[in-house]
Amino acid sequence: MKNNTKYLVTAALPYANNYIHIGHVAGAYLSPDIYVRYRKLKNDDVIFISGSDEHGTAIEMASIIEKITPQEIIDRYHFSNKKAFEDLGIQFDIFSRTSSDIHHKTAQEFFLNLYNKNILVKRSDKQLYSEKEKRFLADRFITGTCPVCGYEEARGDECENCGSNLSPSELINPRSKITGDIPVEKETTHYYFPLGNYQEKLSEWIFSKTDWKSNVINYCKGWFKAGLRDRAITRDLDWGVKVPVEGNDGKVIYVWFEAPIGYISMTKELFIKRNEPDKWKEYWCNKDSRLIHFIGKDNIVFHSIVFPSMLMAHGDFNLPHNIPANEFLNIGGEKFSKSRGNGILVKDIVKEFEPDVIRYTIATNFPESKDSEFTWKDLQSKNNNELAAILGNFINRTVVFAKSKFCNIIPGDKSLDNSDTEILNQFKESAASVSAFYDNFRFRDALSETMNAVRSANKYFNDSEPWKLIRDNKERCEAVIYTCLELCHSIAVLISPVLPFTADKILKILNKDKSDFNWEKIGERVLKSGTELGESLILFPQIEDSQIEKLISESTDSTAVKKTEMPENVIELEDFKKVNLKIAKVIECEKVAKSKKLFKLKLKIGDTEKQIVSGIAEFYNPEDLIGKLIVVVDNLKPSKLMGIDSHGMLLAAKTDGQLKVITVDGEINDGAVVN
Ligand code: 2FM
Ligand code: ZN
Repeated sequence: MKNNTKYLVTAALPYANNYIHIGHVAGAYLSPDIYVRYRKLKNDDVIFISGSDEHGTAIEMASIIEKITPQEIIDRYHFSNKKAFEDLGIQFDIFSRTSSDIHHKTAQEFFLNLYNKNILVKRSDKQLYSEKEKRFLADRFITGTCPVCGYEEARGDECENCGSNLSPSELINPRSKITGDIPVEKETTHYYFPLGNYQEKLSEWIFSKTDWKSNVINYCKGWFKAGLRDRAITRDLDWGVKVPVEGNDGKVIYVWFEAPIGYISMTKELFIKRNEPDKWKEYWCNKDSRLIHFIGKDNIVFHSIVFPSMLMAHGDFNLPHNIPANEFLNIGGEKFSKSRGNGILVKDIVKEFEPDVIRYTIATNFPESKDSEFTWKDLQSKNNNELAAILGNFINRTVVFAKSKFCNIIPGDKSLDNSDTEILNQFKESAASVSAFYDNFRFRDALSETMNAVRSANKYFNDSEPWKLIRDNKERCEAVIYTCLELCHSIAVLISPVLPFTADKILKILNKDKSDFNWEKIGERVLKSGTELGESLILFPQIEDSQIEKLISESTDSTAVKKTEMPENVIELEDFKKVNLKIAKVIECEKVAKSKKLFKLKLKIGDTEKQIVSGIAEFYNPEDLIGKLIVVVDNLKPSKLMGIDSHGMLLAAKTDGQLKVITVDGEINDGAVVN
């Protein structure tokens, strides 16, 4: 019998237009896998759901660029990513896809539920249309100049240069990314989800969560402060889930509306496969079931604000119990990214190293509360100095001793004394502490406590000195080695959430089946004296410098980058001097009518006054800025944003999705030159 509480664990559905890399694994896949494996060992009723996110403009765009169908794109990445996860031991109960019939049907039913309750708002709007391509140019199909930073290749949904979220109509000089065609504005009708109506209920719900991670809560606070707005949930596109209301030909449901519904459709699919077609409801609708979303920080808004408000509007399903979002794992101080060429793909790294070594290195560096860093050197050191030196060493010295002194037979347990029961009890205590860490999503702490338990097993071996006992007191020696073998079994269970392949190997070495392989048995006696042991083997062979150096030279590992490479876009001092940066005082600030993002600011810079337009309105109230001393580019070529003259640009930086204006420390006169 399983425990009563049901756990429905989800991992963000990866887009099927890219191969997954270890940044993805650190963000959203390894921690839920560890969590689910732990829950299963605790006899909890848990299912682990994920699958490919196969719609959206990124996939349509990839198919156009490669001149193949979207179906070919998603097939390529779906099957490759599914295998990469398997190779790394990420064990979903189901890894499905949003192109499935059941997903289309479930997403359409969800949409209709809201539509029939008159929750959705229908609105006509002008959007960019290409006469040449005979279609509306959504998001990524448009490129143009960013209204915030002036970058000329900004996308319709986001500026990759300054990170601003954009809508296509805000771009300056927009053009089609495919044909270069200059689009015209054309009327189109879309359905909107009234997100703003849910702000009060959502904020009450989120702020009641005392055990959620602070990164998630703070991110939500930022969104609430800016105020939630209606969001268009349909698009004029071919590829996607068709809008299930008559008169909407050529329109699909926006990918970010239907993708999270994939968690529901994939749960349904799992239980259809298990011949229990109604059981999915127990996980989604029973009040005491726990829905836990594992995601990276770039998905926080959709999982903590958008999807929960959709669930509130629908009414039949549970809201998330927790959303333990991770920050980013970086390499060379930069976010992993295919376009920067620094992504270490899972399908490649599993050819180079054992999966458990990769899992361990990532898990010890989980970006739980801040961004963290992956390096090849660290992987080598974690393998050689921790896995091999602590864990591999204990298992190896125990079984080698048993083999050479007791003919590879588990020795007698007649003379166990206090020191033996003490170490076994200590393991029980360790199991309880590790549990508490896992229950609170503190994976790094759980792993470090786990390794401490293995260290204490080594200490017990050393303190017991079996190499002396074998001469002086054979029966005591038997008891010590028997205890060490029991510890090997306990260690196998304790480490298995993180190192599942190693756990299986240890069982094989012990010649033990899985009948006692559960959390309750940690620190218990489960082995039989007199049983023959299996073959011993080296669990973690050394990783040599030469192997690591080769990888460093092939990649942009941080240490290699810092020592030998310049940033690609290095400039001369003379170039920098061309930019006139000055201190300015904000004397007026107001919102630009009909724009969500723009403020018009009047600045005093020494003896002159000037007007600039800046895309910071989502992050500040005008009165927050008046009187502030800020830094501006004073000699930027004037431009017009939404018809308003702008004679410069203020400096701002983005952090956790929030744009912060650069202000000045202490007293300084406006007009002062920054250099
Ligand atoms: O960021 C991503 O890769 C998205 N495809 C995640 C979607 S998660 C869920 F909502 F479907
Ligand atoms: Zn920009």
